[in-house]
Amino acid sequence: MRLQMRRTLTLLLLCVFLFGALIYKIITSPLVDQNGILREYLEKRAATRPATRSILLWSSFFGDRRWQLPFDALGPEQFRDELKCPVYQCELSNRHDFLPSLELYDAIVFHVAQPFPLLKPLPARRSPHQAYVFALMEPPGETKHQLSDELNFYNLTMTYRLDSDIVWPYAQLLDVETGAPVAPGLQPHWREPPALGSWNDSTVWRLWPTKTKMAAWFVSHCKTLSKREQLAAALQQHIQLDIYGSCGNLNCARGDPRCDDMLDTDFMFYLAFENSLCMDYVTEKLYAALQRHIVPVVFGGANYTRFLPPHSYIDAERFDSVEQLAEHLRFVAGDVQEYMSYFWWRQHYKIANSSPFCELCARLHHPSWAHRTQIYGDIQAWWFNSCRLASHIRF
Ligand SMILES: *[C@@H]1O[C@H](CO)[C@@H](O)[C@H](O)[C@H]1NC(C)=O
Ligand SMILES: *[C@@H]1O[C@H](CO)[C@@H](O)[C@H](O)[C@H]1NC(C)=O
Ligand SMILES: *[C@@H]1O[C@H](CO)[C@@H](O)[C@H](O)[C@H]1NC(C)=O
Repeated sequence: MRLQMRRTLTLLLLCVFLFGALIYKIITSPLVDQNGILREYLEKRAATRPATRSILLWSSFFGDRRWQLPFDALGPEQFRDELKCPVYQCELSNRHDFLPSLELYDAIVFHVAQPFPLLKPLPARRSPHQAYVFALMEPPGETKHQLSDELNFYNLTMTYRLDSDIVWPYAQLLDVETGAPVAPGLQPHWREPPALGSWNDSTVWRLWPTKTKMAAWFVSHCKTLSKREQLAAALQQHIQLDIYGSCGNLNCARGDPRCDDMLDTDFMFYLAFENSLCMDYVTEKLYAALQRHIVPVVFGGANYTRFLPPHSYIDAERFDSVEQLAEHLRFVAGDVQEYMSYFWWRQHYKIANSSPFCELCARLHHPSWAHRTQIYGDIQAWWFNSCRLASHIRF
């Protein structure tokens, strides 16, 4: 009798267990209406999450509280109409009290070339949903921060480096026909330069006879990490090089248009030598020279094919020695067809300014952003590893 009861009980327990397992299986089975759930989720998100992302400029950009933007505060209309951003649902301000609490900003942008502001160095509290942005246009040697103290601080990088989260180049090259940006980029699709002799630029043809001087350089920082001053001095042993500014013996008043006109009328080459040999570090001096009828001679840490059309510049790092570079410059300067061939790109590409805030806005709107945490553990390593001291060209 007792044995039978025990057996029944065991059977009953087994049944209850099997039944429970069945219910569990049904509940967790994938036979659910994912479409319906997704629709409900998206509708709820659209209703609760504000469409606009807010960006705060924490500090000034070298004293410019607007960071080269046209206003102190920009709303979605300005992002769309002034900056021409494809994703424009953003607002940006340089006033800390633009929103009622600092934790409400989706991104706070810090200019790292200068120390944190003395009075309000850092936000007192930080929301885990916010992005702290490492914004910088200067090379690592000019970073006035103790970056080793800023571990696990930044979520996004916004610099001239092409592997930044938001790329902020000094300028862009656009395709003249389509208006689309071509460079900088990791793999720009450049057109092929025309065959030598098939290209005739009437302006360069006209200027050629008056270009009786070889190379010019405007420079104000005399001692640099790249030792460009030594390269220039070595080059001066082989070709005529006129150095203007505090590092040379010639003067041309800054801002005087005749200084720039001289590059068209008098000189063959302009030295666009960077102060540091750092990855992707290509500055406005190069783009300014490209706007003129002069061939830039570049020296820097960048892979210039990612920035400029082929055959539009002469890269000093492609030569083994100063003698070889000087010889090549003399060769180009000595042949009008050769010299003119460096200007072929002008009918296809134009130089334009670029604003990083379109990309930042798009980034904050990207669907994956809300569900991803990104932290730069050691920002100093990320930033410093991009430079070298040794150049390829010997001088
Ligand atoms: C420079 O960049 C181009 C385009 O991405 C690439 O094909 C080439 O290998 C790079 N050169 C060097 C030396 O890294
Ligand atoms: C280039 O064009 C100019 C007129 O603009 C002409 O005088 C000159 O002969 C041409 N040069 C060559 C090499 O075709
Ligand atoms: C940004 O970094 C902070 C601190 O490391 C982290 O707590 C936060 O979740 C990160 N935010 C995002 C949006 O990745």
